[in-house]
Amino acid sequence: MIVCVCNAIRESQVREAARTGARSPAQAYARCGKKAKCGSCLPFARAIIDEERAAIAANPPAAAA
Ligand code: FES
Repeated sequence: MIVCVCNAIRESQVREAARTGARSPAQAYARCGKKAKCGSCLPFARAIIDEERAAIAANPPAAAA
């Protein structure tokens, strides 16, 4: 699924960015070499990041435990 139409950023890219430390849509998009443009995607991107970070917090990787 496309999260950001302006930049053609996919949900999988946002989730991967969150799993590797991105805490905001701006950070996630930067990892894709992009910046937000119209901003209409930001609430959805933020929700995805929050969901991914919550999943990590609930079940941390073995190395971090
Ligand atoms: S849809 Fe993401 S900046 Fe426009």
